[in-house]
Amino acid sequence: MHRTYMDANATTPLLPEVMEAMRPYWMEHFGNASSIHRHGQQAHKAVDRARETMARFFNCRPAEVVFNSGGTEGDNTAIFGILHPGDHFITTSIEHSAILEAAKRLAHRNIETTFVAPQPSGLIDPVDIRRAIRPETRLISVMLANNETGVLQPVEEIGKIAAEAGIFFHIDAVQGAGKVDFDVRRFGCHLLSISAHKMHGPKGIGAMFVRRGTPIEPLLVGGSHERRQRAGTENVPGIVGLAAAAELAMHSLDDGTIHRLAAMRDHLEAGILQLPGTGLNGVLPNGKPAPRAANTTNIWFDQLEGESLVIALDLKGVSVSGGSACHSGATEPSHVLMAMGLDKTRARASLRFSLLKTVTEADIEHVLQVVPQAVEHLRALSPVAAEAVG
Ligand SMILES: Cc1ncc(COP(=O)(O)O)c(C=O)c1O
Repeated sequence: MHRTYMDANATTPLLPEVMEAMRPYWMEHFGNASSIHRHGQQAHKAVDRARETMARFFNCRPAEVVFNSGGTEGDNTAIFGILHPGDHFITTSIEHSAILEAAKRLAHRNIETTFVAPQPSGLIDPVDIRRAIRPETRLISVMLANNETGVLQPVEEIGKIAAEAGIFFHIDAVQGAGKVDFDVRRFGCHLLSISAHKMHGPKGIGAMFVRRGTPIEPLLVGGSHERRQRAGTENVPGIVGLAAAAELAMHSLDDGTIHRLAAMRDHLEAGILQLPGTGLNGVLPNGKPAPRAANTTNIWFDQLEGESLVIALDLKGVSVSGGSACHSGATEPSHVLMAMGLDKTRARASLRFSLLKTVTEADIEHVLQVVPQAVEHLRALSPVAAEAVG
């Protein structure tokens, strides 16, 4: 059976070039980048080269790149490293749990958070961010691309608002990395987090841009690694893999790959939306999709339960995700779709299709063939659908 993976926003496979770049650093060049002997120097040089690549990727100085364990750590570092008791924090209600759960903890430290809600399109209005600012606001954190809808947030405008007000600005760019052009100067941020495994690099490694002079406390203390900004022996193979993935991502943005990806996504989306009782999540008042990452579409299916469709599609060889997360056995509707104003039923009946940049025409045709079959089958069994018909 042809298997099609359409869950790139959950994770991506290594590309062969990334694997090859990492290979020598597991067994041959295994040194500790802090050791002064030859083995250490080899590792240190590899980390330096990777830092230069990441500086090109971010458009910053190499000294402004801090390697860490991924998006969760970057998000937590931005929040716990910048905010102090008495400060006020602004973020949005559609962030990843790495931000939302960290924000919950702030309450115990006498730090209040304002969660700005999106418009029905999934876009955050910069005016709402401006309105939320108080004299004690110290940090704003907004994601670049939403993981469930792919909607791209107006980070440049928010960066300007933060700069005018003298507030630190962090961007969770985990889902934007490799999909949109990066330029931390243009974004106007002080901090930005990315994760390798969302862009064909290895899991458990990431990087953060920390603008020079930003007074950030490290989350992890110990040795003097990463200019004392992140203690712990450097994950050299991971760092090399992240840089290799970033290099390939820069090519993909230049060589038309991302353009082609958007066309494939649009083809898939148009095909699925031909089914009755379906619709797109993340639509502007003019009926057009909100600006979004090239690889993502999020679609609701009336009279269906998203999890059942995920399972039915899995049995037919297609891996996708619902827009929902499973908490203690109960399926909760997606907080992102609910914040956009969907009711619980429709939020539960939504699926996210997130394409790899290596997606083929055969993958698209496969999904376009099995989705209608699965939807028809499940609707025929659904008591809700039966009631609607009879
Ligand atoms: C928007 C966003 N932020 C943060 C993370 C967490 O990244 P990591 O898996 O590297 O900890 C994810 C992962 O799903 C994400 O989608």
